[in-house]
Amino acid sequence: MNTKKVAILTSGGDAPGMNAAIRAATRVGIDKGWQIIGVREGFRGLMNGDFLPLDARLVGGIITLGGTMLGSARCPEFKDKTVQKETLKLLEDHGVSGLIVIGGGGSQTGAAALSNLGFPVVGVASTIDNDLYGSEITIGVDTALNIALESIDRLRVTALSHRRAFFVEVMGRDCGYLALHCAIIGGAEAVVIPEAEISPEKVVAELRAAHERGKRHAIVVVAEGARYNAAGLVNYFKEHHEKLGYEARATVLGHVQRGGVPSAFDRMLATQLSAAAVEHMISGQHGVLIGLLKGQIAATPYREVVANKKILDVGLLELARVLSI
Ligand code: ADP
Ligand code: F6P
Repeated sequence: MNTKKVAILTSGGDAPGMNAAIRAATRVGIDKGWQIIGVREGFRGLMNGDFLPLDARLVGGIITLGGTMLGSARCPEFKDKTVQKETLKLLEDHGVSGLIVIGGGGSQTGAAALSNLGFPVVGVASTIDNDLYGSEITIGVDTALNIALESIDRLRVTALSHRRAFFVEVMGRDCGYLALHCAIIGGAEAVVIPEAEISPEKVVAELRAAHERGKRHAIVVVAEGARYNAAGLVNYFKEHHEKLGYEARATVLGHVQRGGVPSAFDRMLATQLSAAAVEHMISGQHGVLIGLLKGQIAATPYREVVANKKILDVGLLELARVLSI
Protein backbone atom coordinates (compact mmCIF):
# COMPACT_ATOMS: atom_id res chain seq x y z
CA MET A 1 0.00 0.00 0.00
CA ASN A 2 1.26 3.50 -0.86
CA THR A 3 1.81 5.76 2.13
CA LYS A 4 -1.20 8.01 2.45
CA LYS A 5 -0.92 11.64 3.46
CA VAL A 6 -3.37 13.08 5.96
CA ALA A 7 -3.33 16.78 6.82
CA ILE A 8 -4.35 18.07 10.25
CA LEU A 9 -5.24 21.60 11.26
CA THR A 10 -6.45 23.52 14.29
CA SER A 11 -8.96 26.30 13.66
CA GLY A 12 -11.05 28.94 15.42
CA GLY A 13 -10.37 29.91 19.03
CA ASP A 14 -7.47 27.89 20.42
CA ALA A 15 -8.39 25.47 23.20
CA PRO A 16 -6.14 23.85 25.83
CA GLY A 17 -5.68 20.27 24.65
CA MET A 18 -5.34 21.03 20.94
CA ASN A 19 -1.65 20.12 21.17
CA ALA A 20 -2.50 16.78 22.76
CA ALA A 21 -4.84 16.20 19.81
CA ILE A 22 -2.07 17.06 17.29
CA ARG A 23 0.34 14.72 19.08
CA ALA A 24 -2.13 11.83 19.15
CA ALA A 25 -3.15 12.19 15.48
CA THR A 26 0.50 12.34 14.43
CA ARG A 27 1.67 9.34 16.41
CA VAL A 28 -1.37 7.14 15.76
CA GLY A 29 -1.18 8.03 12.05
CA ILE A 30 2.54 7.21 11.87
CA ASP A 31 1.90 3.94 13.71
CA LYS A 32 -0.58 3.03 10.96
CA GLY A 33 2.03 3.82 8.29
CA TRP A 34 0.50 7.16 7.26
CA GLN A 35 2.27 10.44 6.66
CA ILE A 36 0.89 13.31 8.75
CA ILE A 37 1.11 16.86 7.43
CA GLY A 38 0.46 19.75 9.82
CA VAL A 39 -1.27 22.82 8.39
CA ARG A 40 -0.29 26.17 9.88
CA GLU A 41 -3.02 28.57 11.06
CA GLY A 42 -6.20 26.72 10.21
CA PHE A 43 -8.06 27.20 6.95
CA ARG A 44 -5.83 30.15 6.04
CA GLY A 45 -2.82 27.82 5.91
CA LEU A 46 -4.88 25.18 4.12
CA MET A 47 -5.84 27.50 1.26
CA ASN A 48 -2.26 28.79 0.97
CA GLY A 49 -0.57 25.38 1.21
CA ASP A 50 1.28 26.34 4.41
CA PHE A 51 2.29 22.83 5.46
CA LEU A 52 4.61 21.42 8.10
CA PRO A 53 5.32 17.68 7.83
CA LEU A 54 5.04 16.22 11.32
CA ASP A 55 6.96 13.37 12.89
CA ALA A 56 6.92 11.69 16.28
CA ARG A 57 9.77 13.87 17.65
CA LEU A 58 8.31 17.18 16.43
CA VAL A 59 5.20 16.62 18.51
CA GLY A 60 7.23 15.59 21.57
CA GLY A 61 6.70 17.64 24.73
CA ILE A 62 3.67 19.54 23.41
CA ILE A 63 1.09 17.61 25.46
CA THR A 64 1.88 19.87 28.43
CA LEU A 65 1.30 23.08 26.46
CA GLY A 66 -1.88 25.09 25.97
CA GLY A 67 -2.57 26.72 22.60
CA THR A 68 -1.67 24.97 19.36
CA MET A 69 1.79 24.40 17.90
CA LEU A 70 0.25 24.69 14.42
CA GLY A 71 -1.32 28.06 15.12
CA SER A 72 -4.96 28.91 14.54
CA ALA A 73 -6.87 31.64 12.71
CA ARG A 74 -10.23 33.12 11.88
CA CYS A 75 -10.37 32.95 8.11
CA PRO A 76 -13.70 34.26 6.76
CA GLU A 77 -12.46 33.89 3.14
CA PHE A 78 -12.83 30.14 3.54
CA LYS A 79 -16.63 30.46 3.51
CA ASP A 80 -16.35 31.13 -0.24
CA LYS A 81 -17.17 28.02 -2.35
CA THR A 82 -14.61 28.95 -5.01
CA VAL A 83 -11.89 29.17 -2.34
CA GLN A 84 -12.95 25.76 -1.00
CA LYS A 85 -12.74 24.17 -4.47
CA GLU A 86 -9.33 25.75 -5.12
CA THR A 87 -8.17 24.44 -1.75
CA LEU A 88 -9.20 20.90 -2.63
CA LYS A 89 -7.29 21.18 -5.91
CA LEU A 90 -4.22 22.31 -3.96
CA LEU A 91 -4.56 19.37 -1.54
CA GLU A 92 -4.83 16.93 -4.42
CA ASP A 93 -1.74 18.48 -6.08
CA HIS A 94 0.15 17.86 -2.82
CA GLY A 95 -1.05 14.25 -2.70
CA VAL A 96 -3.07 14.85 0.48
CA SER A 97 -5.86 12.29 0.69
CA GLY A 98 -7.59 13.23 3.96
CA LEU A 99 -8.03 16.08 6.42
CA ILE A 100 -8.55 16.16 10.19
CA VAL A 101 -10.06 19.40 11.51
CA ILE A 102 -9.62 20.14 15.21
CA GLY A 103 -11.93 22.99 16.15
CA GLY A 104 -15.34 24.31 17.15
CA GLY A 105 -18.65 24.93 15.39
CA GLY A 106 -17.39 27.31 12.71
CA SER A 107 -14.40 25.12 11.91
CA GLN A 108 -16.58 22.03 11.64
CA THR A 109 -18.90 23.90 9.26
CA GLY A 110 -15.87 24.59 7.07
CA ALA A 111 -14.86 20.92 7.37
CA ALA A 112 -18.40 19.82 6.44
CA ALA A 113 -18.24 22.02 3.33
CA LEU A 114 -15.10 20.20 2.14
CA SER A 115 -16.69 16.87 2.99
CA ASN A 116 -19.76 17.83 0.90
CA LEU A 117 -17.43 18.52 -2.00
CA GLY A 118 -16.32 14.88 -1.75
CA PHE A 119 -13.08 15.21 0.21
CA PRO A 120 -12.45 12.79 3.14
CA VAL A 121 -12.66 14.89 6.33
CA VAL A 122 -12.98 13.91 9.99
CA GLY A 123 -13.54 16.48 12.76
CA VAL A 124 -12.34 16.57 16.36
CA ALA A 125 -14.62 18.51 18.74
CA SER A 126 -12.57 21.31 20.27
CA THR A 127 -13.74 24.62 21.71
CA ILE A 128 -13.86 26.08 25.21
CA ASP A 129 -17.44 27.25 24.55
CA ASN A 130 -18.94 23.72 24.63
CA ASP A 131 -21.51 24.76 22.05
CA LEU A 132 -20.81 22.07 19.45
CA TYR A 133 -23.51 19.55 18.54
CA GLY A 134 -22.11 16.01 18.53
CA SER A 135 -20.08 16.14 21.74
CA GLU A 136 -21.30 16.51 25.30
CA ILE A 137 -18.00 18.08 26.20
CA THR A 138 -15.35 19.49 23.90
CA ILE A 139 -11.58 19.80 24.21
CA GLY A 140 -10.61 22.81 26.35
CA VAL A 141 -13.80 23.20 28.37
CA ASP A 142 -12.44 21.55 31.51
CA THR A 143 -9.28 23.67 31.57
CA ALA A 144 -11.21 26.89 30.85
CA LEU A 145 -13.65 26.07 33.65
CA ASN A 146 -10.82 25.46 36.09
CA ILE A 147 -9.14 28.75 35.19
CA ALA A 148 -12.40 30.66 35.61
CA LEU A 149 -13.08 28.88 38.88
CA GLU A 150 -9.69 29.79 40.31
CA SER A 151 -10.33 33.44 39.37
CA ILE A 152 -13.77 33.39 40.98
CA ASP A 153 -12.32 31.87 44.16
CA ARG A 154 -9.79 34.71 44.27
CA LEU A 155 -12.40 37.38 43.61
CA ARG A 156 -14.48 36.01 46.44
CA VAL A 157 -11.61 36.64 48.87
CA THR A 158 -11.40 40.34 48.04
CA ALA A 159 -15.20 40.65 47.69
CA LEU A 160 -15.56 39.40 51.25
CA SER A 161 -12.96 41.83 52.62
CA HIS A 162 -14.73 44.82 51.05
CA ARG A 163 -18.38 43.75 51.17
CA ARG A 164 -18.50 43.94 47.37
CA ALA A 165 -20.41 42.33 44.55
CA PHE A 166 -18.20 41.12 41.72
CA PHE A 167 -19.68 40.76 38.24
CA VAL A 168 -17.42 38.21 36.60
CA GLU A 169 -17.71 37.90 32.85
CA VAL A 170 -16.73 34.58 31.32
CA MET A 171 -16.33 33.57 27.68
CA GLY A 172 -18.60 31.26 25.71
CA ARG A 173 -19.63 33.34 22.72
CA ASP A 174 -23.45 32.91 22.49
CA CYS A 175 -23.48 29.96 24.86
CA GLY A 176 -23.96 30.13 28.64
CA TYR A 177 -22.37 26.76 29.46
CA LEU A 178 -19.15 28.11 31.01
CA ALA A 179 -21.05 30.77 32.97
CA LEU A 180 -23.68 28.41 34.32
CA HIS A 181 -21.17 25.77 35.37
CA CYS A 182 -18.87 28.41 36.91
CA ALA A 183 -21.83 29.79 38.85
CA ILE A 184 -22.60 26.41 40.37
CA ILE A 185 -19.07 25.33 41.19
CA GLY A 186 -17.99 28.85 42.16
CA GLY A 187 -20.93 29.37 44.52
CA ALA A 188 -22.33 32.43 42.75
CA GLU A 189 -25.25 34.42 44.12
CA ALA A 190 -26.62 35.01 40.61
CA VAL A 191 -25.95 34.03 37.01
CA VAL A 192 -26.79 35.76 33.74
CA ILE A 193 -26.77 33.70 30.54
CA PRO A 194 -28.14 34.27 27.03
CA GLU A 195 -30.32 31.13 27.13
CA ALA A 196 -32.38 32.53 30.05
CA GLU A 197 -31.90 36.28 30.17
CA ILE A 198 -32.87 38.04 33.36
CA SER A 199 -33.39 41.79 33.63
CA PRO A 200 -30.96 44.02 35.55
CA GLU A 201 -33.83 44.69 37.98
CA LYS A 202 -34.08 40.97 38.73
CA VAL A 203 -30.32 40.84 39.37
CA VAL A 204 -30.72 43.74 41.81
CA ALA A 205 -33.58 41.92 43.56
CA GLU A 206 -31.48 38.75 43.88
CA LEU A 207 -28.51 40.63 45.31
CA ARG A 208 -30.63 42.59 47.77
CA ALA A 209 -32.23 39.35 48.89
CA ALA A 210 -28.79 37.78 49.37
CA HIS A 211 -27.78 40.83 51.40
CA GLU A 212 -30.86 40.48 53.57
CA ARG A 213 -30.02 36.80 54.14
CA GLY A 214 -26.78 38.01 55.70
CA LYS A 215 -24.33 37.57 52.84
CA ARG A 216 -21.39 39.95 53.15
CA HIS A 217 -20.38 39.67 49.51
CA ALA A 218 -21.75 38.48 46.19
CA ILE A 219 -20.50 36.88 42.99
CA VAL A 220 -22.53 37.24 39.82
CA VAL A 221 -21.30 35.19 36.85
CA VAL A 222 -22.18 36.83 33.54
CA ALA A 223 -21.85 35.11 30.17
CA GLU A 224 -20.21 37.34 27.56
CA GLY A 225 -23.11 36.59 25.19
CA ALA A 226 -25.77 37.90 27.56
CA ARG A 227 -27.65 41.09 26.65
CA TYR A 228 -25.96 43.00 29.47
CA ASN A 229 -22.29 42.06 29.97
CA ALA A 230 -20.51 42.63 33.31
CA ALA A 231 -19.57 46.25 32.64
CA GLY A 232 -23.02 46.86 31.13
CA LEU A 233 -24.72 45.66 34.30
CA VAL A 234 -22.50 47.71 36.62
CA ASN A 235 -23.08 50.82 34.47
CA TYR A 236 -26.80 50.18 34.46
CA PHE A 237 -26.86 50.06 38.28
CA LYS A 238 -24.84 53.30 38.50
CA GLU A 239 -27.05 55.11 36.00
CA HIS A 240 -30.24 53.96 37.73
CA HIS A 241 -28.83 54.61 41.24
CA GLU A 242 -29.74 51.04 42.17
CA LYS A 243 -28.82 50.07 45.74
CA LEU A 244 -27.48 46.53 45.63
CA GLY A 245 -26.40 46.31 49.23
CA TYR A 246 -22.84 45.95 47.94
CA GLU A 247 -20.39 48.12 46.06
CA ALA A 248 -20.15 46.71 42.51
CA ARG A 249 -17.06 45.82 40.49
CA ALA A 250 -16.79 44.20 37.05
CA THR A 251 -14.04 41.74 36.04
CA VAL A 252 -13.73 40.36 32.52
CA LEU A 253 -11.77 37.10 32.46
CA GLY A 254 -11.58 37.05 28.66
CA HIS A 255 -8.77 35.22 26.87
CA VAL A 256 -7.08 34.29 30.17
CA GLN A 257 -9.50 31.34 30.11
CA ARG A 258 -8.04 30.01 26.87
CA GLY A 259 -4.37 30.16 27.79
CA GLY A 260 -4.01 27.52 30.46
CA VAL A 261 -1.98 24.34 30.80
CA PRO A 262 -4.38 21.59 29.63
CA SER A 263 -5.96 19.64 32.47
CA ALA A 264 -5.64 15.85 32.79
CA PHE A 265 -9.20 15.53 31.49
CA ASP A 266 -8.54 17.68 28.41
CA ARG A 267 -5.31 15.83 27.57
CA MET A 268 -7.10 12.49 27.74
CA LEU A 269 -10.19 13.68 25.85
CA ALA A 270 -8.05 15.25 23.11
CA THR A 271 -5.89 12.14 22.83
CA GLN A 272 -8.84 9.76 22.56
CA LEU A 273 -10.91 11.88 20.17
CA SER A 274 -7.95 12.53 17.91
CA ALA A 275 -6.80 8.89 17.88
CA ALA A 276 -10.36 7.87 16.99
CA ALA A 277 -10.42 10.48 14.20
CA VAL A 278 -7.37 8.86 12.59
CA GLU A 279 -8.90 5.39 12.97
CA HIS A 280 -12.11 6.61 11.29
CA MET A 281 -10.15 8.20 8.46
CA ILE A 282 -8.15 5.05 7.88
CA SER A 283 -11.22 2.83 7.85
CA GLY A 284 -12.96 5.14 5.37
CA GLN A 285 -15.57 6.42 7.85
CA HIS A 286 -15.20 10.11 7.06
CA GLY A 287 -17.67 12.98 6.88
CA VAL A 288 -18.11 12.78 10.65
CA LEU A 289 -17.30 14.69 13.82
CA ILE A 290 -15.66 12.71 16.62
CA GLY A 291 -16.94 13.66 20.06
CA LEU A 292 -18.01 12.25 23.39
CA LEU A 293 -21.63 11.08 23.68
CA LYS A 294 -22.96 9.31 26.78
CA GLY A 295 -19.36 9.06 27.95
CA GLN A 296 -18.26 7.14 24.86
CA ILE A 297 -16.25 8.20 21.82
CA ALA A 298 -18.82 8.60 19.04
CA ALA A 299 -18.97 9.75 15.42
CA THR A 300 -21.79 12.06 14.30
CA PRO A 301 -22.34 12.68 10.57
CA TYR A 302 -21.54 16.23 9.51
CA ARG A 303 -25.04 16.75 8.07
CA GLU A 304 -26.39 16.31 11.65
CA VAL A 305 -23.66 18.43 13.21
CA VAL A 306 -24.35 21.43 11.00
CA ALA A 307 -28.15 21.04 11.06
CA ASN A 308 -28.50 20.97 14.86
CA LYS A 309 -27.85 23.33 17.72
CA LYS A 310 -26.59 22.02 21.04
CA ILE A 311 -29.07 22.76 23.80
CA LEU A 312 -27.83 23.94 27.18
CA ASP A 313 -29.32 22.20 30.22
CA VAL A 314 -30.98 25.29 31.72
CA GLY A 315 -32.48 23.06 34.42
CA LEU A 316 -29.16 23.66 36.18
CA LEU A 317 -30.24 27.27 36.77
CA GLU A 318 -32.63 26.06 39.46
CA LEU A 319 -29.81 24.14 41.14
CA ALA A 320 -27.67 27.29 41.01
CA ARG A 321 -30.52 29.25 42.64
CA VAL A 322 -31.12 26.72 45.42
CA LEU A 323 -27.41 26.47 46.19
CA SER A 324 -27.08 30.24 46.53
CA ILE A 325 -29.44 30.60 49.51
P1 ADP B 1 -14.83 27.96 15.98
O1 ADP B 1 -14.39 26.88 15.07
O2 ADP B 1 -14.06 28.00 17.27
O3 ADP B 1 -16.33 27.98 16.17
P2 ADP B 1 -15.07 30.23 14.12
O4 ADP B 1 -16.55 30.29 14.16
O5 ADP B 1 -14.31 31.53 14.14
O6 ADP B 1 -14.45 29.37 15.31
O7 ADP B 1 -14.69 29.43 12.80
C1 ADP B 1 -13.33 29.17 12.51
C2 ADP B 1 -13.11 29.21 11.03
O8 ADP B 1 -13.88 28.20 10.40
C3 ADP B 1 -13.53 30.48 10.33
O9 ADP B 1 -12.62 31.53 10.47
C4 ADP B 1 -13.62 30.00 8.89
O10 ADP B 1 -12.33 29.87 8.34
C5 ADP B 1 -14.21 28.61 9.09
N1 ADP B 1 -15.67 28.68 8.93
C6 ADP B 1 -16.58 29.15 9.82
N2 ADP B 1 -17.84 29.11 9.32
C7 ADP B 1 -17.72 28.60 8.07
C8 ADP B 1 -18.65 28.32 7.01
N3 ADP B 1 -19.96 28.57 7.15
N4 ADP B 1 -18.15 27.80 5.87
C9 ADP B 1 -16.84 27.56 5.71
N5 ADP B 1 -15.92 27.80 6.66
C10 ADP B 1 -16.33 28.32 7.82
O1 F6P C 1 -14.78 30.39 20.63
C1 F6P C 1 -13.86 30.60 21.65
C2 F6P C 1 -13.87 32.04 22.07
O2 F6P C 1 -12.90 32.20 23.08
C3 F6P C 1 -15.22 32.58 22.54
O3 F6P C 1 -15.51 32.19 23.87
C4 F6P C 1 -15.02 34.06 22.36
O4 F6P C 1 -16.25 34.71 22.17
C5 F6P C 1 -14.17 34.14 21.12
O5 F6P C 1 -13.52 32.88 20.99
C6 F6P C 1 -13.15 35.22 21.14
O6 F6P C 1 -12.56 35.28 19.90
P1 F6P C 1 -11.19 35.96 19.58
O7 F6P C 1 -10.09 35.12 20.17
O8 F6P C 1 -11.13 35.98 18.09
O9 F6P C 1 -11.19 37.31 20.21
